[in-house]
Amino acid sequence: MEDKTTRHTITVEPGGEEFQCREDQHLLEALKAVGRRLIPSGCHGGGCGVCRIRIIGGEADFKVMSRRHVTEDDRREGIALACRTLPRSDMRVEKAPRPPVWASRTPSRGQNQSESGIQQSGVNR
Ligand code: FES
Repeated sequence: MEDKTTRHTITVEPGGEEFQCREDQHLLEALKAVGRRLIPSGCHGGGCGVCRIRIIGGEADFKVMSRRHVTEDDRREGIALACRTLPRSDMRVEKAPRPPVWASRTPSRGQNQSESGIQQSGVNR
């Protein structure tokens, strides 16, 4: 029987900071548990898309992700939502650029102007 309490080391690039995540936790849940913010955090339910990451290495399972936030092309490039990603091995990830469609969106409640500027430039590192 598979042990879902198995922990894996998640490395966030650039910088190589690491945290531990159980197989029954999504990546943001593990970060929240240790009080770290290495990946942008929002709704924790797949609804806002701010936690987009690119998986550079390792294996994971995924809960359902909206195509609005992660397209099929994104998936082929290893992009996923950290709040929908359950590790199945040690992993290396990096923050992923925001989708182009976000550039035309006006800031919603809770987003500040500087965050909006980052989205419009497409730079998220
Ligand atoms: S935190 Fe909102 S989609 Fe992941």
